[in-house]
Amino acid sequence: MAISTQATEGRWSSRWLFVLAAAGSAVGLGNIWKFPYIAGENGGGAFVLIYLVCVAFVGAPIMISEVMLGRKGRASPINTMRKLTQQSGASSRWTFLGWMGVTAGVLILSYYAVIAGWALNYIWLTAAGTFDAASAQVATGTFDQLQQDPLQMMGWHAVFMLITIWIVARGVSRGLEAAIRWFMPLLFVLLLVLLGYSVSSGGFAQGWAFMFDFNWAVVGPETWLIAMGQAFFTLSLGMGTMMAYGAYVPSDSNIGSTVLTIVVLDTFVAVAAGLAIFPLVFVNGLEVGQGPGLMFVTLPLAFGQLPMGALFGTVFFVLVSFAAITSAISLTEPAIAYVVEEYNAKRSRVAVSLGGICWLLGLGTVFSFNIWVDEKPFFGLNFFELVDQLSQNIMLPLGGLLIALFAVWALPQSVVREQLDVTDDRVMLLWRVVGGVIAPLGVAAVFVYTLLPLFTS
Ligand code: TRP
Repeated sequence: MAISTQATEGRWSSRWLFVLAAAGSAVGLGNIWKFPYIAGENGGGAFVLIYLVCVAFVGAPIMISEVMLGRKGRASPINTMRKLTQQSGASSRWTFLGWMGVTAGVLILSYYAVIAGWALNYIWLTAAGTFDAASAQVATGTFDQLQQDPLQMMGWHAVFMLITIWIVARGVSRGLEAAIRWFMPLLFVLLLVLLGYSVSSGGFAQGWAFMFDFNWAVVGPETWLIAMGQAFFTLSLGMGTMMAYGAYVPSDSNIGSTVLTIVVLDTFVAVAAGLAIFPLVFVNGLEVGQGPGLMFVTLPLAFGQLPMGALFGTVFFVLVSFAAITSAISLTEPAIAYVVEEYNAKRSRVAVSLGGICWLLGLGTVFSFNIWVDEKPFFGLNFFELVDQLSQNIMLPLGGLLIALFAVWALPQSVVREQLDVTDDRVMLLWRVVGGVIAPLGVAAVFVYTLLPLFTS
């Protein structure tokens, strides 16, 4: 089969732009919405430590593998896998990885855009003073009302999808880079502003203690499971996003140090988001472990009690929306790049079609919060839970596992040495042990643990 070698249209204009783009992909709802509430539910410090271990020993090597494969193949993940399997004489079945990635991207974006739509809605709500000195009932009621209203959710979901598609349609340099150049620096500034606000509002010591005091009593096997899933999600691993972005990386950039920078930035944002959120929660005597509502109920409530809360609350939701947009565009890249190169299609058309598909699929998630809330036909899960769990607990870990195995054991060592710029044999050994043994075993263990209940119950 002929493989298009006229690969992807673009190149990042510098190594630094790739770092920003990949960090833009990594930093998203996963860091600002999920990480704090998961840490809150899982006892804080102990979870944070386990999460850091997963990021270092599993996340980082898998990200290196993805970027390396992408840059070597210089095509969409599907064609990159085709090329590399041919070149290294491996089975063409590995290409399945690329297809699974495209599917996972569509599934994730379909619900990601719904939740990001809530954040867009909350920009207006907060700015309009909805939460000023509000009671807990008002905060809970506002969130419930949004969830009960399919039309409103569909609208915000559509707005978010339109922004994403507009950026994606403009291409790598005019769309992705242009958005990233603006959003990422702004995002860091906003985050620091919020952190400052949180520190000055009191409760910081308590927030800090919650994030960093280890309490082994609350750690169980599920903690590892959740931490590993979170590490995959937050680093955008396992579905070819980093492979697609890696295809645009200049040949002379050092992958190891680049990936390290991205991982550190992503972790910094997650920890900073926790440190910004928890003190506000504590100082208002609210509950940290209350789940997904932490960002949409507890936090607005907390802002509402503080001086200039409406202003800083608005800033917060602008921050979340920016972070979500730069992640959403990255979710589309594996699919878009493939259709564009395979069928010589116009990028803008592909972007609009993909956006339409994801929006339609997202309706299933919208309805899972209201009219289908009790419809649980899929192993006792509703539509949203099914899509979320299928992508996050199955497709991403499986994808990541296979990517690491391929990069370490199927790709010729000479390619790895050249791509990673390694001359030292000890470094190669470290790479094979961590990337080829520890990371895959870690993922596999978690994977078995997730799937086991399905077969034994
Ligand atoms: N990492 C993003 C977040 O934390 C979400 C995301 C973007 C993603 N691209 C991905 C998750 C690819 C998994 C795979 O919000």
